[in-house]
Amino acid sequence: MTDGRRLAYLEALGVDVYVRRGLARAPVEMPVQEAHPAVPAAPAAVAGAVPEASLDWEPLRAMVSACTRCSLHETRTQTVFGVGNPSAKWMFIGEAPGADEDRQGEPFVGRAGQLLTSMLKAMGFAREDVYIANVLKCRPPGNRDPKPEEALRCRGYLDRQIELVAPSLIVAVGRIAAQNLLATDTALARLRGKVHTLGPRGWPLIVTYHPAYLLRSPGEKRKAWQDLLFARQVFARIESGERVVP
Ligand code: URA
Repeated sequence: MTDGRRLAYLEALGVDVYVRRGLARAPVEMPVQEAHPAVPAAPAAVAGAVPEASLDWEPLRAMVSACTRCSLHETRTQTVFGVGNPSAKWMFIGEAPGADEDRQGEPFVGRAGQLLTSMLKAMGFAREDVYIANVLKCRPPGNRDPKPEEALRCRGYLDRQIELVAPSLIVAVGRIAAQNLLATDTALARLRGKVHTLGPRGWPLIVTYHPAYLLRSPGEKRKAWQDLLFARQVFARIESGERVVP
């Protein structure tokens, strides 16, 4: 991608003059933080505890599309499984499908999804280069927050997707995804800028803002861009063989 096109995407993200300077001269401003201690895995994350734990992509997809584990199946148009490169090094995990995703069967395709796509492009990725999924595979009616019980019942599917993709780095997109994945109620502001570990396998995970929040609070876009630069830095350290988590 040319610098000009990347800058256009950065501008869509709302990061202009600061990023231009950053791109020209300075490395990432955000300090690399100490690795976060391992957090307890959600109960359903325990390997072998759920039937989907050993499934390959197609049976997993079929199981998800027939799922009736919670009442969201009664109101969904269809399940929203996940999209992208099944062997991606980067995995982005959001909260739950919204109305557009429920209609189209693909995560992050509405307005927030378009901003996520711009964020990816600003990092030099097409959607097909990464894997994108959600904590929930069905839309909560009225876009309400996922209930803990829904997230728990759906969790085995996501855990299996993570195992199958085996990403180098996971980016939790938004507070709800981050808190669900990390089994914490810590505020998003305190989860950013750190490398967390996910589940018994210790997948490295970093946290950023949800694009829907950025649409409501465009002043925060610059912080989201800092998160993505931090993620890129962490990724480079992982790829160079450095241990980024304890
Ligand atoms: N918000 C999410 O968290 N996921 C989607 O797929 C769409 C909107």
